[in-house]
Amino acid sequence: MGNYRIKGGRTLAGHINPGGAKNAVLPILAASVLCDESILTNVPNLSDVTLSLDILEQLGCIVGYDGSKVKINSVKADKTTVPTKHVGKMRSSILFLGSMLGRFGEAEIGLPGGCKLGARKIDYHLDAFRKMGAVVEENEERGTIICHVPNKRLSGADITLKTPSVGATENIMLAAVLADGITTITNAAKEPEIVDLADFLNKSGAKVIGAGTGEIVVTGVKGLGSVNHRIIPDRIVAGTYLCAVAMTGGDILLNDVIPTHMTATLNMLRDAGCRIKHGNGYVWIASPDRLKSLKNLTTDVYPGFPTDMQAQFAAMQCIADGECIIRETIFESRDKHFAELTKMGANIKVTGDEVTVKGMARLRGATVAAPDLRGGAALILAGLAASGETIVNNSEHVERGYESIEAALSWLGAEISLEP
Ligand code: EPZ
Repeated sequence: MGNYRIKGGRTLAGHINPGGAKNAVLPILAASVLCDESILTNVPNLSDVTLSLDILEQLGCIVGYDGSKVKINSVKADKTTVPTKHVGKMRSSILFLGSMLGRFGEAEIGLPGGCKLGARKIDYHLDAFRKMGAVVEENEERGTIICHVPNKRLSGADITLKTPSVGATENIMLAAVLADGITTITNAAKEPEIVDLADFLNKSGAKVIGAGTGEIVVTGVKGLGSVNHRIIPDRIVAGTYLCAVAMTGGDILLNDVIPTHMTATLNMLRDAGCRIKHGNGYVWIASPDRLKSLKNLTTDVYPGFPTDMQAQFAAMQCIADGECIIRETIFESRDKHFAELTKMGANIKVTGDEVTVKGMARLRGATVAAPDLRGGAALILAGLAASGETIVNNSEHVERGYESIEAALSWLGAEISLEP
Protein backbone atom coordinates (compact mmCIF):
# COMPACT_ATOMS: atom_id res chain seq x y z
CA MET A 1 0.00 0.00 0.00
CA GLY A 2 2.67 2.52 -1.07
CA ASN A 3 2.23 5.93 -2.70
CA TYR A 4 3.97 7.54 -5.65
CA ARG A 5 4.99 11.16 -5.05
CA ILE A 6 5.48 13.06 -8.32
CA LYS A 7 6.60 16.62 -9.01
CA GLY A 8 5.31 17.57 -12.44
CA GLY A 9 6.88 19.67 -15.17
CA ARG A 10 10.12 17.82 -15.94
CA THR A 11 10.82 16.81 -19.56
CA LEU A 12 12.11 13.28 -20.17
CA ALA A 13 15.18 12.23 -22.13
CA GLY A 14 17.49 9.25 -22.43
CA HIS A 15 17.12 5.58 -23.25
CA ILE A 16 15.40 2.66 -21.54
CA ASN A 17 14.54 -1.01 -21.98
CA PRO A 18 10.90 -1.89 -21.12
CA GLY A 19 11.72 -5.43 -19.89
CA GLY A 20 9.93 -8.73 -20.46
CA ALA A 21 6.17 -8.88 -21.03
CA LYS A 22 3.96 -9.60 -17.99
CA ASN A 23 1.21 -10.95 -20.23
CA ALA A 24 3.64 -13.32 -21.94
CA VAL A 25 5.46 -14.63 -18.86
CA LEU A 26 2.30 -15.36 -16.84
CA PRO A 27 0.82 -17.92 -19.29
CA ILE A 28 4.30 -19.35 -19.86
CA LEU A 29 4.77 -19.86 -16.11
CA ALA A 30 1.44 -21.73 -16.05
CA ALA A 31 2.64 -23.76 -19.06
CA SER A 32 5.82 -24.80 -17.24
CA VAL A 33 3.70 -27.30 -15.25
CA LEU A 34 3.48 -29.31 -18.49
CA CYS A 35 7.25 -29.41 -19.12
CA ASP A 36 10.14 -31.24 -17.45
CA GLU A 37 12.34 -28.18 -17.00
CA SER A 38 11.86 -24.55 -18.12
CA ILE A 39 14.57 -21.89 -18.12
CA LEU A 40 13.15 -18.39 -18.76
CA THR A 41 15.13 -15.17 -19.28
CA ASN A 42 14.07 -11.51 -19.63
CA VAL A 43 11.50 -12.20 -16.89
CA PRO A 44 10.14 -8.95 -15.37
CA ASN A 45 10.51 -8.58 -11.60
CA LEU A 46 6.80 -8.14 -10.77
CA SER A 47 4.51 -9.14 -7.91
CA ASP A 48 2.37 -11.15 -10.36
CA VAL A 49 5.48 -13.17 -11.34
CA THR A 50 6.39 -13.85 -7.71
CA LEU A 51 2.83 -14.93 -7.03
CA SER A 52 2.88 -17.33 -10.01
CA LEU A 53 6.16 -18.82 -8.76
CA ASP A 54 4.51 -19.35 -5.35
CA ILE A 55 1.70 -21.25 -7.07
CA LEU A 56 4.23 -23.42 -8.94
CA GLU A 57 5.93 -24.29 -5.64
CA GLN A 58 2.55 -25.14 -4.11
CA LEU A 59 2.08 -27.64 -6.96
CA GLY A 60 5.41 -29.29 -6.11
CA CYS A 61 7.60 -27.65 -8.76
CA ILE A 62 11.19 -26.75 -7.87
CA VAL A 63 11.64 -23.03 -8.60
CA GLY A 64 14.73 -20.82 -8.83
CA TYR A 65 14.45 -17.03 -9.49
CA ASP A 66 17.07 -14.27 -9.47
CA GLY A 67 14.85 -11.35 -10.45
CA SER A 68 15.24 -11.78 -14.21
CA LYS A 69 15.95 -15.48 -14.83
CA VAL A 70 13.64 -18.32 -13.73
CA LYS A 71 14.32 -22.06 -13.60
CA ILE A 72 11.39 -24.42 -13.00
CA ASN A 73 11.60 -28.20 -12.69
CA SER A 74 8.12 -29.74 -12.77
CA VAL A 75 9.08 -33.42 -12.97
CA LYS A 76 8.03 -34.09 -9.38
CA ALA A 77 5.00 -31.77 -9.37
CA ASP A 78 2.04 -33.74 -8.04
CA LYS A 79 -0.39 -31.31 -6.41
CA THR A 80 -3.53 -30.27 -8.24
CA THR A 81 -4.98 -27.52 -6.04
CA VAL A 82 -4.16 -23.83 -6.42
CA PRO A 83 -4.71 -22.04 -3.08
CA THR A 84 -7.64 -19.64 -3.17
CA LYS A 85 -5.59 -16.81 -1.59
CA HIS A 86 -3.36 -16.76 -4.68
CA VAL A 87 -6.16 -16.83 -7.21
CA GLY A 88 -8.08 -14.01 -5.56
CA LYS A 89 -5.20 -11.64 -6.22
CA MET A 90 -4.41 -12.46 -9.82
CA ARG A 91 -6.87 -13.38 -12.55
CA SER A 92 -4.27 -15.01 -14.76
CA SER A 93 -3.84 -17.79 -12.16
CA ILE A 94 -6.88 -19.30 -13.92
CA LEU A 95 -4.38 -20.37 -16.59
CA PHE A 96 -3.09 -23.04 -14.21
CA LEU A 97 -6.43 -24.79 -14.70
CA GLY A 98 -5.59 -25.63 -18.31
CA SER A 99 -2.06 -26.82 -17.61
CA MET A 100 -3.07 -28.89 -14.55
CA LEU A 101 -5.94 -30.52 -16.45
CA GLY A 102 -3.59 -31.20 -19.34
CA ARG A 103 -0.94 -32.75 -17.13
CA PHE A 104 -2.84 -34.40 -14.26
CA GLY A 105 -6.43 -34.75 -15.53
CA GLU A 106 -7.72 -32.98 -12.43
CA ALA A 107 -7.54 -29.53 -10.81
CA GLU A 108 -9.11 -27.36 -8.13
CA ILE A 109 -8.68 -23.60 -8.23
CA GLY A 110 -10.25 -20.58 -6.57
CA LEU A 111 -12.54 -18.32 -8.58
CA PRO A 112 -10.31 -15.68 -10.23
CA GLY A 113 -9.69 -12.17 -8.89
CA GLY A 114 -7.43 -9.46 -10.34
CA CYS A 115 -8.25 -5.93 -11.57
CA LYS A 116 -11.89 -4.87 -11.22
CA LEU A 117 -12.52 -4.21 -14.91
CA GLY A 118 -15.94 -5.78 -15.07
CA ALA A 119 -17.41 -9.26 -14.96
CA ARG A 120 -14.23 -10.91 -16.26
CA LYS A 121 -16.08 -14.18 -16.71
CA ILE A 122 -14.41 -17.48 -17.47
CA ASP A 123 -17.31 -19.24 -19.20
CA TYR A 124 -15.35 -19.66 -22.47
CA HIS A 125 -12.59 -21.45 -20.52
CA LEU A 126 -14.91 -23.84 -18.66
CA ASP A 127 -17.11 -24.58 -21.71
CA ALA A 128 -13.99 -25.53 -23.67
CA PHE A 129 -12.73 -27.88 -20.93
CA ARG A 130 -16.15 -29.57 -20.86
CA LYS A 131 -15.99 -30.06 -24.63
CA MET A 132 -12.57 -31.67 -24.13
CA GLY A 133 -14.01 -34.19 -21.66
CA ALA A 134 -13.58 -32.53 -18.28
CA VAL A 135 -16.28 -32.58 -15.61
CA VAL A 136 -16.36 -29.00 -14.27
CA GLU A 137 -18.09 -28.11 -11.00
CA GLU A 138 -18.29 -24.61 -9.57
CA ASN A 139 -18.27 -25.17 -5.82
CA GLU A 140 -19.93 -22.08 -4.32
CA GLU A 141 -19.27 -22.70 -0.64
CA ARG A 142 -15.55 -23.36 -1.22
CA GLY A 143 -15.37 -20.58 -3.83
CA THR A 144 -13.51 -22.93 -6.11
CA ILE A 145 -13.79 -24.65 -9.46
CA ILE A 146 -13.23 -28.40 -9.27
CA CYS A 147 -12.45 -30.26 -12.49
CA HIS A 148 -11.61 -33.84 -13.28
CA VAL A 149 -11.26 -35.90 -16.47
CA PRO A 150 -12.90 -39.35 -16.06
CA ASN A 151 -10.20 -41.18 -18.03
CA LYS A 152 -7.45 -38.77 -16.88
CA ARG A 153 -6.63 -37.57 -20.42
CA LEU A 154 -8.46 -34.77 -22.19
CA SER A 155 -9.63 -35.30 -25.76
CA GLY A 156 -9.05 -32.87 -28.62
CA ALA A 157 -12.11 -30.84 -29.68
CA ASP A 158 -13.18 -28.14 -32.14
CA ILE A 159 -13.77 -24.95 -30.15
CA THR A 160 -15.09 -21.64 -31.44
CA LEU A 161 -14.79 -18.62 -29.14
CA LYS A 162 -17.68 -16.15 -29.06
CA THR A 163 -15.16 -13.32 -28.76
CA PRO A 164 -11.36 -13.63 -29.18
CA SER A 165 -10.56 -13.96 -25.48
CA VAL A 166 -6.81 -13.87 -24.73
CA GLY A 167 -7.03 -15.96 -21.58
CA ALA A 168 -9.43 -18.51 -23.02
CA THR A 169 -7.22 -18.96 -26.10
CA GLU A 170 -4.20 -19.53 -23.86
CA ASN A 171 -6.01 -21.85 -21.43
CA ILE A 172 -7.31 -24.05 -24.25
CA MET A 173 -3.80 -24.27 -25.74
CA LEU A 174 -2.46 -25.38 -22.34
CA ALA A 175 -5.17 -28.04 -22.00
CA ALA A 176 -4.73 -29.24 -25.59
CA VAL A 177 -0.97 -29.84 -25.92
CA LEU A 178 -1.11 -33.22 -24.08
CA ALA A 179 -4.71 -34.08 -25.03
CA ASP A 180 -5.59 -37.14 -27.09
CA GLY A 181 -6.12 -35.92 -30.65
CA ILE A 182 -6.44 -32.53 -32.35
CA THR A 183 -7.91 -29.32 -30.90
CA THR A 184 -8.86 -26.38 -33.11
CA ILE A 185 -9.50 -22.91 -31.68
CA THR A 186 -11.55 -20.75 -34.03
CA ASN A 187 -11.87 -16.99 -33.45
CA ALA A 188 -8.71 -17.24 -31.35
CA ALA A 189 -7.07 -14.10 -29.95
CA LYS A 190 -4.01 -12.97 -31.98
CA GLU A 191 -1.94 -11.12 -29.37
CA PRO A 192 1.90 -11.41 -29.57
CA GLU A 193 1.83 -12.96 -26.09
CA ILE A 194 -0.11 -15.91 -27.53
CA VAL A 195 2.56 -16.38 -30.19
CA ASP A 196 5.22 -16.29 -27.46
CA LEU A 197 3.32 -19.00 -25.52
CA ALA A 198 3.10 -21.16 -28.65
CA ASP A 199 6.85 -20.67 -29.30
CA PHE A 200 7.59 -21.78 -25.73
CA LEU A 201 5.34 -24.85 -26.01
CA ASN A 202 6.71 -25.88 -29.42
CA LYS A 203 10.29 -25.61 -28.14
CA SER A 204 9.36 -28.17 -25.46
CA GLY A 205 7.94 -30.60 -28.03
CA ALA A 206 4.33 -29.45 -28.43
CA LYS A 207 2.63 -29.15 -31.82
CA VAL A 208 0.88 -25.78 -32.00
CA ILE A 209 0.31 -24.07 -35.36
CA GLY A 210 -1.50 -20.86 -36.30
CA ALA A 211 -0.75 -18.83 -33.15
CA GLY A 212 -1.16 -15.14 -34.05
CA THR A 213 -3.99 -15.96 -36.45
CA GLY A 214 -7.67 -16.52 -35.71
CA GLU A 215 -7.30 -20.27 -36.19
CA ILE A 216 -5.01 -22.28 -33.93
CA VAL A 217 -4.54 -26.05 -34.30
CA VAL A 218 -2.97 -28.12 -31.52
CA THR A 219 -2.02 -31.76 -32.07
CA GLY A 220 -1.73 -33.53 -28.72
CA VAL A 221 1.57 -35.26 -27.88
CA LYS A 222 2.52 -37.74 -25.13
CA GLY A 223 4.75 -35.43 -23.11
CA LEU A 224 6.82 -32.22 -23.15
CA GLY A 225 10.54 -32.02 -22.45
CA SER A 226 12.78 -29.14 -21.35
CA VAL A 227 12.92 -25.65 -22.81
CA ASN A 228 14.99 -22.47 -22.78
CA HIS A 229 13.02 -19.34 -23.64
CA ARG A 230 13.48 -15.56 -23.64
CA ILE A 231 10.26 -13.66 -22.85
CA ILE A 232 9.27 -11.08 -25.50
CA PRO A 233 9.47 -7.38 -24.57
CA ASP A 234 6.48 -5.77 -22.90
CA ARG A 235 4.64 -3.73 -25.55
CA ILE A 236 2.37 -2.11 -22.94
CA VAL A 237 5.17 -0.97 -20.64
CA ALA A 238 6.94 0.33 -23.76
CA GLY A 239 3.80 2.19 -24.85
CA THR A 240 3.42 3.64 -21.36
CA TYR A 241 6.92 5.14 -21.45
CA LEU A 242 6.23 6.56 -24.93
CA CYS A 243 3.07 8.22 -23.57
CA ALA A 244 5.08 9.65 -20.68
CA VAL A 245 7.38 11.43 -23.14
CA ALA A 246 4.48 12.53 -25.33
CA MET A 247 2.93 14.22 -22.27
CA THR A 248 6.03 15.76 -20.72
CA GLY A 249 8.10 16.82 -23.75
CA GLY A 250 11.59 15.69 -24.69
CA ASP A 251 12.63 12.54 -26.49
CA ILE A 252 13.63 9.01 -25.56
CA LEU A 253 14.97 5.86 -27.18
CA LEU A 254 13.40 2.51 -26.24
CA ASN A 255 15.76 -0.46 -26.67
CA ASP A 256 14.90 -4.16 -26.83
CA VAL A 257 11.36 -3.64 -28.13
CA ILE A 258 9.47 -5.17 -31.06
CA PRO A 259 7.89 -2.23 -32.97
CA THR A 260 5.64 -4.53 -35.02
CA HIS A 261 3.89 -5.52 -31.75
CA MET A 262 3.03 -1.82 -31.21
CA THR A 263 1.77 -0.65 -34.61
CA ALA A 264 -1.59 0.68 -33.40
CA THR A 265 0.01 2.49 -30.45
CA LEU A 266 2.74 4.05 -32.61
CA ASN A 267 0.21 5.20 -35.21
CA MET A 268 -1.92 6.86 -32.50
CA LEU A 269 1.14 8.61 -31.08
CA ARG A 270 1.99 9.93 -34.56
CA ASP A 271 -1.63 11.10 -34.98
CA ALA A 272 -1.20 12.97 -31.67
CA GLY A 273 1.74 14.86 -33.20
CA CYS A 274 4.73 12.87 -31.92
CA ARG A 275 7.72 12.11 -34.14
CA ILE A 276 8.48 8.40 -34.15
CA LYS A 277 11.34 6.44 -35.67
CA HIS A 278 11.65 2.68 -35.29
CA GLY A 279 13.67 -0.21 -36.58
CA ASN A 280 14.99 -3.59 -35.52
CA GLY A 281 14.68 -3.64 -31.73
CA TYR A 282 14.18 0.09 -31.08
CA VAL A 283 11.63 2.91 -31.04
CA TRP A 284 12.58 6.61 -30.81
CA ILE A 285 9.99 9.26 -29.94
CA ALA A 286 10.00 13.04 -29.71
CA SER A 287 7.11 14.96 -28.21
CA PRO A 288 5.36 17.86 -30.01
CA ASP A 289 4.99 21.26 -28.34
CA ARG A 290 1.26 20.63 -27.98
CA LEU A 291 -0.41 17.25 -28.38
CA LYS A 292 -3.21 16.99 -30.93
CA SER A 293 -6.61 15.57 -30.10
CA LEU A 294 -7.17 12.06 -31.51
CA LYS A 295 -10.90 12.90 -32.02
CA ASN A 296 -11.85 9.22 -31.57
CA LEU A 297 -10.13 6.52 -29.55
CA THR A 298 -11.76 3.07 -29.62
CA THR A 299 -10.12 -0.01 -28.13
CA ASP A 300 -10.17 -3.26 -30.05
CA VAL A 301 -8.71 -6.75 -29.98
CA TYR A 302 -5.20 -7.17 -31.39
CA PRO A 303 -3.98 -5.82 -33.77
CA GLY A 304 -6.38 -2.97 -32.99
CA PHE A 305 -5.74 -0.25 -30.41
CA PRO A 306 -5.04 -2.14 -27.15
CA THR A 307 -7.37 -1.78 -24.16
CA ASP A 308 -4.27 -1.91 -21.95
CA MET A 309 -3.21 1.46 -23.43
CA GLN A 310 -6.63 3.14 -23.10
CA ALA A 311 -6.07 4.73 -19.68
CA GLN A 312 -2.62 6.06 -20.62
CA PHE A 313 -3.97 7.64 -23.82
CA ALA A 314 -6.93 9.05 -21.89
CA ALA A 315 -4.46 10.85 -19.61
CA MET A 316 -2.61 12.10 -22.66
CA GLN A 317 -5.78 13.44 -24.27
CA CYS A 318 -6.53 15.44 -21.09
CA ILE A 319 -3.79 17.88 -22.19
CA ALA A 320 -4.28 17.64 -25.98
CA ASP A 321 -5.62 20.45 -28.17
CA GLY A 322 -9.27 19.56 -28.73
CA GLU A 323 -11.90 16.97 -27.88
CA CYS A 324 -11.56 13.18 -28.00
CA ILE A 325 -14.30 10.57 -27.64
CA ILE A 326 -13.04 7.38 -25.97
CA ARG A 327 -14.86 4.06 -26.31
CA GLU A 328 -13.73 1.00 -24.32
CA THR A 329 -15.03 -2.09 -26.14
CA ILE A 330 -13.21 -4.93 -24.36
CA PHE A 331 -14.07 -4.49 -20.65
CA GLU A 332 -17.38 -3.31 -19.21
CA SER A 333 -15.84 -0.96 -16.69
CA ARG A 334 -12.29 0.02 -17.50
CA ASP A 335 -13.22 3.57 -16.56
CA LYS A 336 -12.30 4.21 -12.92
CA HIS A 337 -9.33 6.38 -13.91
CA PHE A 338 -11.61 9.07 -15.37
CA ALA A 339 -12.92 10.19 -11.97
CA GLU A 340 -9.36 10.39 -10.64
CA LEU A 341 -8.18 12.43 -13.64
CA THR A 342 -11.07 14.81 -13.01
CA LYS A 343 -9.63 15.44 -9.52
CA MET A 344 -6.56 16.79 -11.37
CA GLY A 345 -8.73 19.27 -13.23
CA ALA A 346 -9.37 17.20 -16.37
CA ASN A 347 -12.49 18.09 -18.38
CA ILE A 348 -14.18 14.69 -18.79
CA LYS A 349 -17.83 13.87 -19.53
CA VAL A 350 -19.20 10.31 -19.42
CA THR A 351 -22.24 9.69 -21.64
CA GLY A 352 -23.21 6.02 -21.63
CA ASP A 353 -20.32 4.02 -23.03
CA GLU A 354 -18.65 7.10 -24.49
CA VAL A 355 -16.24 9.34 -22.59
CA THR A 356 -15.54 12.81 -23.97
CA VAL A 357 -12.22 14.30 -22.94
CA LYS A 358 -11.74 18.01 -23.66
CA GLY A 359 -8.03 18.77 -23.60
CA MET A 360 -6.66 21.65 -21.58
CA ALA A 361 -3.30 23.38 -21.31
CA ARG A 362 -2.33 21.77 -18.02
CA LEU A 363 -3.56 19.49 -15.24
CA ARG A 364 -2.99 20.38 -11.61
CA GLY A 365 -1.33 18.11 -9.08
CA ALA A 366 -3.66 16.33 -6.64
CA THR A 367 -3.92 13.25 -4.42
CA VAL A 368 -5.51 10.42 -6.42
CA ALA A 369 -5.99 6.66 -6.04
CA ALA A 370 -4.82 4.03 -8.53
CA PRO A 371 -8.00 2.03 -9.31
CA ASP A 372 -6.20 -0.76 -11.19
CA LEU A 373 -2.93 -1.50 -12.94
CA ARG A 374 -3.19 0.63 -16.10
CA GLY A 375 -5.37 3.27 -14.45
CA GLY A 376 -2.61 3.73 -11.88
CA ALA A 377 0.01 4.08 -14.61
CA ALA A 378 -2.17 6.68 -16.32
CA LEU A 379 -2.39 8.74 -13.11
CA ILE A 380 1.40 8.67 -12.78
CA LEU A 381 1.69 9.99 -16.36
CA ALA A 382 -0.82 12.73 -15.54
CA GLY A 383 1.24 13.65 -12.47
CA LEU A 384 4.40 13.93 -14.57
CA ALA A 385 2.66 16.47 -16.84
CA ALA A 386 0.70 18.33 -14.15
CA SER A 387 1.75 21.48 -12.32
CA GLY A 388 2.74 20.99 -8.70
CA GLU A 389 2.80 17.75 -6.76
CA THR A 390 0.69 14.61 -7.30
CA ILE A 391 0.33 11.68 -4.93
CA VAL A 392 -0.90 8.40 -6.45
CA ASN A 393 -2.08 5.99 -3.76
CA ASN A 394 -2.42 2.18 -3.97
CA SER A 395 0.93 1.58 -5.66
CA GLU A 396 0.42 -2.20 -5.34
CA HIS A 397 -1.82 -2.10 -8.41
CA VAL A 398 0.95 -0.56 -10.52
CA GLU A 399 3.64 -2.85 -9.10
CA ARG A 400 1.75 -5.83 -10.52
CA GLY A 401 2.69 -4.79 -14.06
CA TYR A 402 5.58 -2.30 -13.92
CA GLU A 403 9.04 -3.18 -12.64
CA SER A 404 10.01 -0.11 -10.53
CA ILE A 405 8.22 2.45 -12.72
CA GLU A 406 9.53 5.14 -10.35
CA ALA A 407 13.16 4.08 -11.00
CA ALA A 408 12.58 3.92 -14.75
CA LEU A 409 10.96 7.36 -14.96
CA SER A 410 13.56 8.91 -12.62
CA TRP A 411 16.26 7.50 -14.92
CA LEU A 412 14.58 9.45 -17.75
CA GLY A 413 14.58 12.68 -15.71
CA ALA A 414 11.23 12.63 -13.88
CA GLU A 415 10.93 13.64 -10.24
CA ILE A 416 9.09 10.63 -8.77
CA SER A 417 9.52 8.46 -5.70
CA LEU A 418 7.71 5.51 -4.16
CA GLU A 419 6.91 5.90 -0.47
CA PRO A 420 5.92 2.88 1.65
C1 EPZ B 1 -5.74 -10.50 -20.89
O1 EPZ B 1 -6.77 -10.57 -19.93
C2 EPZ B 1 -4.67 -9.59 -20.31
N1 EPZ B 1 -4.14 -10.19 -19.07
C3 EPZ B 1 -5.29 -8.23 -20.00
O2 EPZ B 1 -4.25 -7.40 -19.50
C4 EPZ B 1 -5.82 -7.64 -21.31
O3 EPZ B 1 -6.46 -6.41 -21.03
C5 EPZ B 1 -6.84 -8.61 -21.93
O4 EPZ B 1 -6.22 -9.90 -22.11
C6 EPZ B 1 -7.35 -8.13 -23.27
O5 EPZ B 1 -6.28 -7.91 -24.14
C7 EPZ B 1 -3.18 -11.14 -19.17
O6 EPZ B 1 -2.79 -11.54 -20.26
C8 EPZ B 1 -2.64 -11.69 -17.89
P1 EPZ B 1 -9.92 -11.62 -22.16
P2 EPZ B 1 -7.96 -11.67 -20.07
O7 EPZ B 1 -10.18 -13.03 -21.76
O8 EPZ B 1 -7.40 -12.93 -20.61
C9 EPZ B 1 -14.66 -11.42 -21.68
C10 EPZ B 1 -3.28 -5.80 -18.09
O9 EPZ B 1 -3.59 -4.63 -17.85
N2 EPZ B 1 -14.61 -12.87 -21.42
O10 EPZ B 1 -9.47 -11.34 -23.55
O11 EPZ B 1 -8.70 -11.70 -18.80
C11 EPZ B 1 -14.13 -10.67 -20.45
O12 EPZ B 1 -15.15 -10.50 -19.51
C12 EPZ B 1 -4.37 -6.85 -18.17
O13 EPZ B 1 -2.12 -6.23 -18.30
C13 EPZ B 1 -15.80 -13.58 -21.26
O14 EPZ B 1 -16.88 -13.03 -21.36
O15 EPZ B 1 -8.86 -10.95 -21.18
C14 EPZ B 1 -13.64 -9.38 -21.01
O16 EPZ B 1 -14.73 -8.48 -21.07
C15 EPZ B 1 -5.75 -6.28 -17.87
N3 EPZ B 1 -15.72 -14.91 -20.98
C16 EPZ B 1 -13.20 -9.74 -22.43
O17 EPZ B 1 -13.76 -11.04 -22.72
C17 EPZ B 1 -14.53 -15.56 -20.86
O18 EPZ B 1 -14.51 -16.79 -20.60
C18 EPZ B 1 -11.70 -9.80 -22.61
O19 EPZ B 1 -11.22 -10.78 -21.78
C19 EPZ B 1 -13.33 -14.82 -21.03
C20 EPZ B 1 -13.40 -13.48 -21.32
